Amino acid sequence: MAEVTSSVWATGQQPSRVQRRGRYVPESMRHPGKMLPSIAARVIATYSRPGELVVDPMCGIGTTLVEALHLGRHATGVEYEERWARLAVANLGHARKKGASGSGRVVAGDSRHIGRLLPDLTGRAALVLTSPPYGTYTHGHVRSTRDTGEPGVRKWNHHYSANPGNLAHQPLPALLEGFSRILAGCAELLRPGGVAAVTVRPYRVRGELVDLPGQVHRVAEQAGLVFEDRIACLLCGLGEGHLLNRASFFQLHEARKAWARGLPVHAIAHEDLLVFRRPQTPATAIPGAGLRDSR
Ligand SMILES: C[S@@+](CC[C@H](N)C(=O)[O-])C[C@H]1O[C@@H](n2cnc3c(N)ncnc32)[C@H](O)[C@@H]1O
Repeated sequence: MAEVTSSVWATGQQPSRVQRRGRYVPESMRHPGKMLPSIAARVIATYSRPGELVVDPMCGIGTTLVEALHLGRHATGVEYEERWARLAVANLGHARKKGASGSGRVVAGDSRHIGRLLPDLTGRAALVLTSPPYGTYTHGHVRSTRDTGEPGVRKWNHHYSANPGNLAHQPLPALLEGFSRILAGCAELLRPGGVAAVTVRPYRVRGELVDLPGQVHRVAEQAGLVFEDRIACLLCGLGEGHLLNRASFFQLHEARKAWARGLPVHAIAHEDLLVFRRPQTPATAIPGAGLRDSR
């Protein structure tokens, strides 16, 4: 019988660094916005079977691909930046050396044209798993005055690239338009009934909450996908009788500033997992939405 499961997943029991140790090449830590390996593994185990194909159209250093291989799936990723694509290839090689049984492939390119990049995969994927980039301010490694003894905040590894074409550097409407096109292309790669899973979290800009999960939900439906489930993947750990904080410097900083202004807002301790399905019969595209091709 299937394991009884709830819509909250305890995926933050170990910090990201610990989850990656020995499983990913060390240079992977340079990427500013990686998916938690425990989230990727659980999504893959839940929504695909051994031997099936998993695709990540924005694969970064290849977390989805590596976890898929370890679970006996085959995986293909696309990444805009050559430097991250090379690291994804290195991570796939590392996984194979560690005994992962699946096979993997990485293509460097722009997933807004994913149908052109992966013409051989149309209708073949069981699962698309991805997460969009969302600005640089929530990412990277940080040391504050408290850590360094020097005035100000020091940040590094907080840029995806210097390339303005990267969706990470687009204003929110352009990011959503690009992401909608990527999802529409991915819907074509899915077999009928296949799952598209997106991990995404809200973030704050100058104190204001940006509901990115809500926006992603909207553009995914415009791309012809059907909304099926919403799961909270914990980024904090569950201790005995209390939560183990794993919030980033930025999140804590934003929350503390708000409390100082008398606004009791909270550091985000979960990632939304939005689950969509490709309908069994093709959906009608909404004119002017994600299925448009403006190449
Ligand atoms: C949130 S990160 C994904 C990280 C990945 N899940 C991992 O764990 O390494 C989003 C990635 O999308 C890439 N990206 C941005 N625009 C893209 C595009 N048009 N096509 C493909 N990848 C893109 C960025 O360079 C970044 O690596």
